[in-house]
Amino acid sequence: MKLVTARRLQDIEPFHVMSVLARAHELEAQGRSIVHMEIGEPDFPTADGIRQAAMAAIEAGHTRYLPALGLPVLRQRIADSYAADVRPSARRVVVTPGASGALQLVFAALLSPGDQVLLADPGYPCNRHFVRLFEGEAVAIAVDASTHYQLTADLVRKHWTRRTVAVLISSPANPTGTLVPDAEMAAIVDTASKLGGRVVVDEIYSGLVYDLEPMPALRHSQEVFVINSFSKYFGMTGWRVGWLVAPEEYIPAIDKLAQNIFIATSAPAQYAALAAFDPQVDGELQRRVQLFKQRRDFLLPALRKIGFDIKVVPEGAFYLYADCSRFGRDSQRLALEVLEEIGVAITPGRDFGNFEPERHVRFSYANTLEQLEEGVRRLREFLV
Ligand SMILES: Cc1ncc(COP(=O)(O)O)c(C=O)c1O
Repeated sequence: MKLVTARRLQDIEPFHVMSVLARAHELEAQGRSIVHMEIGEPDFPTADGIRQAAMAAIEAGHTRYLPALGLPVLRQRIADSYAADVRPSARRVVVTPGASGALQLVFAALLSPGDQVLLADPGYPCNRHFVRLFEGEAVAIAVDASTHYQLTADLVRKHWTRRTVAVLISSPANPTGTLVPDAEMAAIVDTASKLGGRVVVDEIYSGLVYDLEPMPALRHSQEVFVINSFSKYFGMTGWRVGWLVAPEEYIPAIDKLAQNIFIATSAPAQYAALAAFDPQVDGELQRRVQLFKQRRDFLLPALRKIGFDIKVVPEGAFYLYADCSRFGRDSQRLALEVLEEIGVAITPGRDFGNFEPERHVRFSYANTLEQLEEGVRRLREFLV
């Protein structure tokens, strides 16, 4: 039979890191020891209180469809998690299947064919694919250390066209861990608003910021779309729960899109997420933030010493984005070589865009300090 496929498939790439992970698992199955620094999810199990809440929810029969916009008490709890001066009404909070679900709803609501969305390169790879999925055009803007790998109001102005409808900012970002400074965020919001577009801010790593208190995007404007998730800070990657805070006037559109695309986010997972805000759970999550900080503070200088050029100290997430050109090979080759030769798994730059991917690799420090030390030891022996 003829293979019938959509044209968009040509523009949507797989996660290249998955092939690194698959090869790492193959080597592990052969008995090799692998240090994982490629994975973009916390190494901690979901906190006890959250797991207990899920089991209790299932026992109590909370296994049916919920409203498309989410469990009302969870929408309220999420709204209440914002500081009083920026707190959105619970009506504007939509529970989604991860940040991924939230991003899809936003782009489904905003984009008509050919509409452009500005975003940073390097950046989280799915973003440009979500835009493509909804027939928009992702305009990837090359960013480097001079702007902390983030867009600026100037870059937004420079790349804005008559077809631009939105700017997507991730702060802290994947793969660089850097933030958009508050003043710059205010300028970006102001610029996009004057140009007649919308700002979408992905705050999925906002709970994982180490040296400062990040300002929520809602403090700059209640007109931005805010994406967040229970995946990273809350350690619930596999549960598939996230959220979106949208301007009030978009809620009816988002409601009908969510009804059609997802019907609802998983009911047991939403009941579990309710427990994520309990003080006891939060104490545990805060302890983990301190561990992530410790790991960053170990890995950053250790990698620099080996010769990886990390030009900006990342304030958040659990990634380090390193220029590896000094080792004289393309990042893809380097990643494969260190995996095969010394059992260290890292992500080559090509997952994150087209701007100098061959010069960069991403290290994830979502692994124990002992494992990171072992990884550094192997890299030092192999590369220095
Ligand atoms: C910047 C960013 N946004 C969104 C996501 C998707 O997360 P979720 O598991 O909530 O769908 C990720 C996952 O790695 C990410 O790094």
